[in-house]
Amino acid sequence: MKVDVLLGLQWGDEGKGKIVDVLTSGYQVITRFQGGANAGHSLEFNNQKHVLHLIPSGIFHEKAINIIGNGVVLDPAIFKTEVEEIEKKFGITLNKRLLIAKKANLIVPTHRILDGAMEEAKGKGKIGSTLKGIGPAYTDKVARNAIRVGDILQPNFKEKYEQLKQLHLKQLSLYNFAYNLEQLEKDWFAGIELLKTFQFIDSEHVINKYINEKDTRILAEGAQGSMLDIDFGSYPFVTSSNTICAGACTGMGIAPSKIGSVIGIFKAYCTRVGSGPFPTELFDEVGQKMRDIGHEYGSTTGRPRRCGWLDMVALKYSIMINGVTELIMTKADVLDSFDTIKVAVGYKLDGKTLDYFPYEIDNNIEPVYKEFKGWNCDITGKTSEKELPKELADYVKFIEKETGVPVSIVSVGPDRDATIIR
Ligand code: GDP
Ligand code: IMO
Ligand code: MG
Repeated sequence: MKVDVLLGLQWGDEGKGKIVDVLTSGYQVITRFQGGANAGHSLEFNNQKHVLHLIPSGIFHEKAINIIGNGVVLDPAIFKTEVEEIEKKFGITLNKRLLIAKKANLIVPTHRILDGAMEEAKGKGKIGSTLKGIGPAYTDKVARNAIRVGDILQPNFKEKYEQLKQLHLKQLSLYNFAYNLEQLEKDWFAGIELLKTFQFIDSEHVINKYINEKDTRILAEGAQGSMLDIDFGSYPFVTSSNTICAGACTGMGIAPSKIGSVIGIFKAYCTRVGSGPFPTELFDEVGQKMRDIGHEYGSTTGRPRRCGWLDMVALKYSIMINGVTELIMTKADVLDSFDTIKVAVGYKLDGKTLDYFPYEIDNNIEPVYKEFKGWNCDITGKTSEKELPKELADYVKFIEKETGVPVSIVSVGPDRDATIIR
């Protein structure tokens, strides 16, 4: 069986956690392939809401095997907090259902401090990082300095850690940045001890073995969104990994030919948290209304998310880069009380109209909008496609026509059950 990949097509927070949780009933294995605890994936069931950061969103399904893949950067301190919170809240034991790639890179405490120091030094040009140490950790991976999960069990682990820490302390001396390493290190080493109770695997072998099994279906869960991809996002206002489908190959050790469906998820509008260009951003009461109704506040940092209309130019770009075969639209219910709904179908730049996503993606871009009549009714309790209002059906049809890709699910609320399969 091939690996299906589910990934965000916008600037993150499209509802990946909720949908992976919904889809897990049809899969035996769920894997994360990039990012780290910068992610915040929310899911809701039985009137309980939970936010996952490092752990794949299939974790609440007893029979599913969840894997943290080699492309992930793992902070043991955050991992410990996350594991303990879930085990306490849900009364389950995670080390039976969660496997960790030996080749996943570790985030060390000084990565987090460096993230803070570098952001502060950027002043007005700051990225708006979640400050989880993601950028510095991937930098060390590429610079060949990193420590990996598999190193924890090696006799020279402490030595490796000290070496990396000394390198970081030298780097930190270039910044005028206050920090307290002692507590961070205490939590980190406690996290290492907890991590040791989990099974470390050669994930590329394990995943490829699953691929060769006839009855095992694998779903790869992306973090962030395509517009935050290190290569194709709005650089430099991006995260430090390949969030796109290609990242699933390098982040799990599977060949491109082993990718099956590419499931692209997007909100019925757009949000972005952190700095950087956002052509359809609304600064008025309409944007505030989206934020209020959609509870658009970061799952990881609590920051208010910037809100705006759906951007078809950016969406088509993401679909192209990822080779999306199937679309999922979330948060349609948030637009229930909007009289008019707008979609950007082009950009105006320097007097020219563009229908593609350009290199010069900055504040000079002016979106060209197409307007739709709103459905003006409550869709939150709807359970089937035929119950959806005509205006919403038209909105979905327009998106399918523009993108050439079918919309397989419309999500109408945060709960597992608020999911309309078309
Ligand atoms: P992720 O990072 O892509 O997993 O998304 P987040 O969890 O950060 O943000 C999505 C937010 O929207 C969460 O609070 C979800 O509970 C919520 N959500 C997901 N789908 C829907 C939906 O269809 N309608 C509404 N109203 N909320 C949703
Ligand atoms: P999920 O998986 C939304 C944003 C940050 C910042 C930029 C770089 O929940 O969709 P980083 O911490 O990676 O150095 O931050 O990327 N960002 C996200 N925005 N959702 C996320 O994850 C994000 N992860 C990072 O706000 O602008
Ligand atoms: Mg999120």
